[in-house]
Amino acid sequence: MKILTGIQPTNILHIGNYFGALKPAVKLSQENDLLMMIADYHAITVPQDPKQLKENILFATAAYIATGIDPKKTVLFQQSQVPEHTELGWILQTLTYMGEAERMTQFKDKSGDNQKRVSVGLFTYPTLMAADILLYNTEAVPVGADQKQHLELTRDLAERFNHQFGKTFVVPEPLIPEHGAKILSLNDPLKKMSKSSPTAKSYVSIMDTPDVIVKKIRSAVTDSERTITVDDNRPGLKNLLTILHLITGESLVDIAGSYEDKGMKELKDDLAEALVLYLGPLQAEIRGLLENKDELQKIIEIGSREAHKLANNQIKIVKNKMGLL
Ligand code: AMP
Ligand code: TRP
Repeated sequence: MKILTGIQPTNILHIGNYFGALKPAVKLSQENDLLMMIADYHAITVPQDPKQLKENILFATAAYIATGIDPKKTVLFQQSQVPEHTELGWILQTLTYMGEAERMTQFKDKSGDNQKRVSVGLFTYPTLMAADILLYNTEAVPVGADQKQHLELTRDLAERFNHQFGKTFVVPEPLIPEHGAKILSLNDPLKKMSKSSPTAKSYVSIMDTPDVIVKKIRSAVTDSERTITVDDNRPGLKNLLTILHLITGESLVDIAGSYEDKGMKELKDDLAEALVLYLGPLQAEIRGLLENKDELQKIIEIGSREAHKLANNQIKIVKNKMGLL
């Protein structure tokens, strides 16, 4: 199967990104053709510091490789180095209805009270995401639950284009993991864990130090019940059990069962310890890779050249169908 996913290069990669998107993509890359995109054009829909952005692109590359992406097998590339993304993005904008774009809940969430001052790019970003996917005949897209609506738009645009201009695009499926598709904020478990949260207490970054991890997990908001149960009405607790499940592979019910005689404090201590042990080797690997930035840069360039070849084929087909070529 042909699979593509993208993650924005920011200086934080939290455990929601890691378990919701990155880890599932790595697993899929073992038996499928994966394209892994550093979504830098998406990142600039909100202001970025140029020096920091450059660092973040290299950090993202190192983090993907440390998680298990093999650049010899996977096309690991940088979105802005493949100009066909913006070309097809523009074309798809002309096929997208205002009403459709206005329904996107992520835009509403991200723009908040600031609707008049956010960039037009943030508003049209789902059409660029559709272009990312449709350029490569992608059949499936591993993402967290928050991207489901963008995938639906992508499918609608593929079908609309095929209907108007003749069969061109594969209509892609979202691949949303059963557990971990929506890791919740630690200090407000009614919201998802998010990079753009105003407080660092709400997430665990994969680069957090052991002390910080312990502090954040200990202060995670749960509830005042004493027993440990798997219950959708106890979202804070269920979130902690889910994270532990993602690390150990044990089922939520089994984990909860092992805390029959213990309480929330023990669960939090054990989770903090498990996270520290899990993230330690990953952090060491990332730091090691970041010592050789030239090598990382070379990997991105090779991957981007490969993506450019594939995308260039597809854009020619699209332009032909539309009468542009
Ligand atoms: P972003 O950081 O917005 O580029 O997101 C990268 C990937 O992580 C996307 O597939 C998201 O759906 C996924 N993701 C973001 N936040 C979470 C979360 N709290 N839980 C699970 N997956 C998430
Ligand atoms: N929009 C995604 C996010 O913010 C990132 C992304 C960009 C993406 N292009 C993509 C994900 C293509 C999957 C496929 O999380």
